[in-house]
Amino acid sequence: MIVFSGTKSTALAWEVSKQLKCPAGKTDIRKFPDGEIYVRVETEVAGKECAVIQSTRSSDDFMEIIFLMDALRDAGATQIHLMAPYLGYMRQDKVFKEGEALSAKTILKTLHELADSISTINCHFLNSGGETVFNSVNFMNLDAIPTIVDYMRKDLKNPVVIAPDKGSLTYAKAASEMLGCQFNHLEKTRISGEEVSVEDKKLNVNKKDVLMIDDIISTGGTIIEASKIIRKYRPASINVACVHGLFLSGVKQFQGVVDRIVSTNTIESPISKISVARIIADDLRR
Ligand code: R5P
Repeated sequence: MIVFSGTKSTALAWEVSKQLKCPAGKTDIRKFPDGEIYVRVETEVAGKECAVIQSTRSSDDFMEIIFLMDALRDAGATQIHLMAPYLGYMRQDKVFKEGEALSAKTILKTLHELADSISTINCHFLNSGGETVFNSVNFMNLDAIPTIVDYMRKDLKNPVVIAPDKGSLTYAKAASEMLGCQFNHLEKTRISGEEVSVEDKKLNVNKKDVLMIDDIISTGGTIIEASKIIRKYRPASINVACVHGLFLSGVKQFQGVVDRIVSTNTIESPISKISVARIIADDLRR
């Protein structure tokens, strides 16, 4: 297998290629002055199986993998396995108002046209890992929560897991089972894309090391508002981890609010300390 990546997941793809003991494919990916994307495959792929690794947090990231997969096919690749560690546009998996575009379906259908298999990690609209079929598209949803809990556990002497909202309750329950501790959840109301409010609720966290896990941290509003409530009940520490750290407002805003915050490297950032390379390599070996 030859491991290719788009421009957003080069370090992760390199790590995966080392684990698989497979060569990393060479590409030339750049932008024209008008913003259009140019992709060229520079490695011979005729008759070869290829993996394409790229998180897609922007529309340009999608264009890169669409061009890359089609170029690999044109160059004679036999099998193309797409691994999108963070797969964007998965927030809209339902039509709430008549006429809305179902972005999750459109993206998956488009990728399915070009890839022989599709995998992602903690897809936003799913609560559990495994093979999934969504609007007739098969894909694999991998779960990074056990890897996150293993990384966090050494700093949690007296742990308790708190879900910042009901949406992350499944993750909190799974983490509490791994840590052998209690879990609870807060109630969040989303006011707008940037603003949330979290209801005050008495929590049994006094002198405990709180672990909060979410699939995505976007603006950071959810974690900050939840931490303010948790802090009232005097925990020993507040530790936060997420799978996909978008950190749209940066990471400085968490200083003094939480004691520790990390993410996986599905999206690379200064705090993406937890590697998902092993999870991806194991999936590609299948
Ligand atoms: C919500 O459904 C997600 O699990 C996260 O809680 C949400 O994406 C976090 O967004 P933000 O960081 O902007 O509050």
